[in-house]
Amino acid sequence: MRAVVLHEFGPPAHLRVADVPTPRPAAGEVAVRVAAAGVQFLETQVRAGTMRGALGGAPLPVILGKEIAGVVAEVGPEGDPALLGARVLGSTTGLGGYAETAIAPAGSLIPVGDAVGLPEAVALYRYGATAQGLVRAARVAAGDRVLVLAAAGAVGTVLVQLLKRSGATVVAAARGEHKLALLGRLGADHVVDYSLSGWTGRARDAAGGSVDVVLDHVGGALGRESFELLTPGSGRQIVFGLSSGTPLQVQPMELIGRGLTLTGFSTGHLWSRPALARDLVTEVLELAAAGRLTPVIGQRFPLERAADAHAAIEARDTVGKTLLIP
Ligand SMILES: NC(=O)c1ccc[n+]([C@@H]2O[C@H](COP(=O)([O-])OP(=O)(O)OC[C@H]3O[C@@H](n4cnc5c(N)ncnc54)[C@H](OP(=O)(O)O)[C@@H]3O)[C@@H](O)[C@H]2O)c1
Repeated sequence: MRAVVLHEFGPPAHLRVADVPTPRPAAGEVAVRVAAAGVQFLETQVRAGTMRGALGGAPLPVILGKEIAGVVAEVGPEGDPALLGARVLGSTTGLGGYAETAIAPAGSLIPVGDAVGLPEAVALYRYGATAQGLVRAARVAAGDRVLVLAAAGAVGTVLVQLLKRSGATVVAAARGEHKLALLGRLGADHVVDYSLSGWTGRARDAAGGSVDVVLDHVGGALGRESFELLTPGSGRQIVFGLSSGTPLQVQPMELIGRGLTLTGFSTGHLWSRPALARDLVTEVLELAAAGRLTPVIGQRFPLERAADAHAAIEARDTVGKTLLIP
């Protein structure tokens, strides 16, 4: 089968398609004929070598790819034969998804009904659970004013829609007119371009003086500027990534002085409770099936162009989800 192999950390061009043996499932696993594989921002950092710890010590060469949608092609020894042919979402161990066939634990599978396409389902899969988890972790209530950073991205586009459903007033911040236009179409109450000077003033005005919640996967200067917008006494910033490459810098004394909450969020804690994760994903898929949540697939690339997919994400040229279509 064809797969995208990474032999050496470095630039996107290091991702190359090769013929490799088709993997066979062990007990407790299935092989999935991949219809679409998600490309995560984190995987660009892994490929570059800046987040190689995410490989858990696996030596190169590797095939990246965590999230897949497809059809079960083979069931491991003593597995349930009824799974054969099922349309599913699945999670690899973190390796193997950028391929025509990938292995996933049978326990990770989530069925996908006919009302949602497999590419659309994978676009809403792990980030759907992430977005749901974030809304809960931030204890977002109706009427809260919520600032979402890098809101036009893969997580952001799901987040903005779920926040609107929870009754929040959403200030969606991103870079560039086309991203802001998309966010307006997705229902954001206010859109702000944070690449323009004075953006915090516009965000403050839009929110009516301050924001109750900041959802921040960017960190660095943008995360810090957003922190300054929080409502004294009750404001909370949920940090769940560092897309800028620089963590948010906040001192404990600043939290005390202004009565603010800083919360770290990792979806890993959600996925360690498979029943909860399955419920969160199923809920998102049902919303999509009912036309109440729009999966945003901004980019689709064949396996041969995996390097272009990574390059586009790194260039901040993408909106919504980026997929590889084998
Ligand atoms: N903690 C968790 O459990 C968890 C789960 C899922 C994802 N994440 C994190 O969430 C983040 C978003 O993931 P994603 O796949 O949805 O990516 P994404 O939002 O589609 O892409 C990243 C976006 O970040 C923005 N950005 C701001 N400063 C940047 C910089 N200096 N360099 C590059 N991009 C910059 C860009 O949007 P603009 O051009 O609009 O600035 C870019 O498009 C990642 O950091 C990821 O690791 C965390």
